[in-house]
Amino acid sequence: MVLLKWLVCQLVLFASLSHAFTDYLLKKCAQSGFCHRNRVYSDNIAKSHHCYYKLDAQSIAHDPLQNSLSATIIKTIPRLDGADIAVELPFSLSFLQDHSVRFTIDEKERTVASGGSLLASQRYNETWMYAFDEKFHDEANKTNFPELRFAKQEHSTDSLWSRLSSFLTHSNSTTDTIHLQNGNISLEILTEPFQLKIYWQNSLRLIVNERNFLNIEHQRSKEENFAHVLPEETTFNMFKDDFMYSKHDTMPLGPESVALDFTFFQSTNLFGIPEHPTSLRLMDTSQGEPYRLFNVDVFEYNIGTTQPMYGSIPFMFSSSSTSVFWVNAADTWVDIKYDTQQNKTMTHWISENGVVDVVISLGQDIPAVIDKFTDLTGRPFLPPMSSIGYHQCRWNYNDETDVLTVDAQMDANEIPYDFIWLDLEYTNDKKYFTWKRNSFPNPKRLLSKLNKLGRNLVVLIDPHLKKGYEISDSVINENVAVKDHNGNDYVGHCWPGNSIWIDTMSEYGQKIWKSFFEKFMDLPADLTNLFIWNDMNEPSIFDGPETTAPKDLIHDNHTEERSIHNLYGLSVHEATYDAVKSIYSSSDKRPFLLTRAFFAGSQRTAATWTGDNVATWDYLKISIPMVLSNNVAGMPFIGADIAGFAEDPTPELIARWYQAGLWYPFFRAHAHIDTKRREPYLFDDPLKSIVRDTIQLRYFLLPTLYTMFYKSSTTGFPIMNPMFIEHPEFPELYDIDNQFYWGDSGLLIKPVTDPGQSEIEMIFPPGVFYDFESMASFVNTGADPAVKIIPTPLDKIPFFIEGGHIITIKDKYRRSSKLMKNDPYVLVIAPDVKGHAVGDLYVDDGETFGYQRGEYAKTRFVLEDGHILKNVPSHTPDNLMDIHNDVLRNTNIEKIIVAKNELQRDIALKDSVTIKQGGEERSFPTKLSHEDDNKIIIMNPMLDITENWELIF
Ligand SMILES: *[C@@H]1O[C@H](CO)[C@@H](O)[C@H](O)[C@H]1NC(C)=O
Ligand SMILES: *[C@@H]1O[C@H](CO)[C@@H](O)[C@H](O)[C@H]1NC(C)=O
Ligand SMILES: *[C@@H]1O[C@H](CO)[C@@H](O)[C@H](O)[C@H]1NC(C)=O
Ligand SMILES: *[C@@H]1O[C@H](CO)[C@@H](O)[C@H](O)[C@H]1NC(C)=O
Ligand SMILES: *[C@@H]1O[C@H](CO)[C@@H](O)[C@H](O)[C@H]1NC(C)=O
Repeated sequence: MVLLKWLVCQLVLFASLSHAFTDYLLKKCAQSGFCHRNRVYSDNIAKSHHCYYKLDAQSIAHDPLQNSLSATIIKTIPRLDGADIAVELPFSLSFLQDHSVRFTIDEKERTVASGGSLLASQRYNETWMYAFDEKFHDEANKTNFPELRFAKQEHSTDSLWSRLSSFLTHSNSTTDTIHLQNGNISLEILTEPFQLKIYWQNSLRLIVNERNFLNIEHQRSKEENFAHVLPEETTFNMFKDDFMYSKHDTMPLGPESVALDFTFFQSTNLFGIPEHPTSLRLMDTSQGEPYRLFNVDVFEYNIGTTQPMYGSIPFMFSSSSTSVFWVNAADTWVDIKYDTQQNKTMTHWISENGVVDVVISLGQDIPAVIDKFTDLTGRPFLPPMSSIGYHQCRWNYNDETDVLTVDAQMDANEIPYDFIWLDLEYTNDKKYFTWKRNSFPNPKRLLSKLNKLGRNLVVLIDPHLKKGYEISDSVINENVAVKDHNGNDYVGHCWPGNSIWIDTMSEYGQKIWKSFFEKFMDLPADLTNLFIWNDMNEPSIFDGPETTAPKDLIHDNHTEERSIHNLYGLSVHEATYDAVKSIYSSSDKRPFLLTRAFFAGSQRTAATWTGDNVATWDYLKISIPMVLSNNVAGMPFIGADIAGFAEDPTPELIARWYQAGLWYPFFRAHAHIDTKRREPYLFDDPLKSIVRDTIQLRYFLLPTLYTMFYKSSTTGFPIMNPMFIEHPEFPELYDIDNQFYWGDSGLLIKPVTDPGQSEIEMIFPPGVFYDFESMASFVNTGADPAVKIIPTPLDKIPFFIEGGHIITIKDKYRRSSKLMKNDPYVLVIAPDVKGHAVGDLYVDDGETFGYQRGEYAKTRFVLEDGHILKNVPSHTPDNLMDIHNDVLRNTNIEKIIVAKNELQRDIALKDSVTIKQGGEERSFPTKLSHEDDNKIIIMNPMLDITENWELIF
């Protein structure tokens, strides 16, 4: 929820576009000093072929304590008088995880602190401490470093080191090459020019600095600058910023950008670096603007551009399963150039400051590199079951009566929901941590009413704090406000007018922030259904440059906003998460939290959404690649506002948006304050029934969805899952981002995203597919994906289950997810052409951290030969009986639906099935019916998901 109304009013003369984001507020590369300088430098280097950076072979050292290799890269600036300037750039390299290499490049002059100044003179090198999972923090203090090794396991690092030294001694050329091997990865370090070549099973996957775009703008004074500039460089905006909205930037440290090129081999398909409103497969930017990663508030963003958005994840991978994680939270631009001739892709990464800190991971397949990335940056949190149900939001539900009316009407109209949301206006005069007294006189009463059906309330709390009330006063008194470049509390404009910003980059700031929640959420022990939404945490600042914070603000007493800009939002939502988690610790409740700004690592504690979209078909369409992009970048819990935040959607758009949105991992309807009310029960039929059925379908699918969230929380596996991850063998699928799978469940979906679309084309890989509703099947017998036309009347969602999968659903309408807890399971089996199928189910209490203590059940269903169904539990809680009545209340299978293909057609109608269990075989009387031509139904087989059994039908 955000509106640049304030700005738009101020700049009404420029506001010529009807509802597009005001582009002129954001820099183009040519207007950004460091971006332009690096693009110019790279163009000129490509022509001159000069190389100014070499690794000094004599400087190579092995630090056994850190298990890393260190060396010095020398940047030489030639001078006519022969007094060349040599800049020393410390380089380090280590194997971080199996199949991951990390290297860093710093600047020696700037590794020592110069006292006195407000600003640290060191290059900021702590981004990794926010981005990496806590378990990798131990490694920082050099004690616990077991994964790291240089050689194949049979070699000790010492023997490797002696081989390395002897190699260097006997080397004869000016270009030394150092070889390192670690399992499937091998690495060559070239010294002049400095390069890294990285191989997977001896096949070249990546070259670092292949094109010599490495550029570290080293420290120099403005006066001496002329002596430090290379012939290929331009001095554009090195010590000032002349962009209209950021010309007050004091740029106290002058030019300090870092840039590097990476060439991916055996691939012309790159993915990642969200958030951008573009295709899933990244575009070639050589004729346009680079992708920019810079967290900003972009109300009604323009579709199809590489402009920055609310969140940034500087992680990119190729279809050859090679990834680059650029661990830098400063303003960053990325150029991409595909070379189909040579089957390679060149990328150029440019950040405004900080150090070069890069993790390169390789793997057998794409899920393996996503797994590495989420091992390093933390797994997506396992959300409470209720939070993967339906969320009803609006700016604003005005008062308690309004909320309770929506609540009652949803039930009266049989529309399940779990969360209702309060936007900005619930506060007293936009002061966070307060309630508008007349409208919400008794928040505890409201929470307690919602709690009866297990429902939850989310309220908005942003990091900007109105000046002049107890919360902002306390922030000022405790000295934990973000500071301006002079060290005074920074004051900017946001919703409440003049505001200050909490500095959650400071540990003490986090503590103060938490104390506000402790007071605000001081609830009776049985009320644990209040959750938080951190909006505007890019941060959004209405009168700030590019709608955000001036880059020369100061955090934590010494760190420039410039260095940590893309991390700030993460620091806000992590502090919020920690606060809520500790407040609910007595009930062990898992928090749900929504953030708008994010960075690599945000997935550990928050969900996000695609921000302020518009109720048009184009925004519906773009939401799918946007959600997919986050899903492949380790942050799957994302959705888009249904049915468009701004403006009023048509009934047809509403229907289609719910039908698409039901597949978003985060399923929320939201609307701008200026729009007409659109709670689903207000619609006329058939729209009302269509939306109700759609939301009910989401609830029926919750067991499957929750299982996917569990998988994601252990491996980072995408929930909304691109075609190419399930079928990497078909090159034509790398471009497809309008249809997708749901995790590994076999559900294949193509939402309708155009008006008046009575049929759509869907692409099917080889195999058998069943229309989920009718279970009517068809087979793609070819060797390649084939297109099929699917009729799509307004009430039809085109979705199929691929042969070979088994999913688990519940099929009874309940008002909320909590009320479904007692319902038995229904298995839906979709055999492949050979009669095989497999599917997983994960179950826990859906609320607490008990699963971390083993309180969950996990099982795998396997169909063999078309008629033998086995259940193979892989985990049942030790105290199953104790917790059976509560946690896993009903673990029974009530119904089994077997989709029929050619094999099943011969299965005879019977009055019994055979069940093998505990070494015994028995005949079990049950109704086995051919419901229609498409499916067999087995009713009440009396089987439990936590037990081992075999059912033969
Ligand atoms: C950052 O760099 C300084 C100077 O080289 C070093 O002392 C410090 O340990 C580094 N910090 C981190 C977190 O890497
Ligand atoms: C390393 O970090 C861990 C956890 O952060 C801490 O317990 C331990 O004392 C640290 N070790 C050293 C040598 O600093
Ligand atoms: C130097 O080494 C290269 C291989 O690294 C070899 O091809 C070349 O013959 C060597 N030159 C001399 C003079 O030994
Ligand atoms: C590019 O390389 C990949 C991996 O080796 C290969 O599968 C693909 O067919 C190649 N593409 C082209 C166009 O040569
Ligand atoms: C910030 O730095 C100043 C000057 O070095 C020092 O006096 C002050 O105590 C510091 N404040 C905090 C909160 O660390």
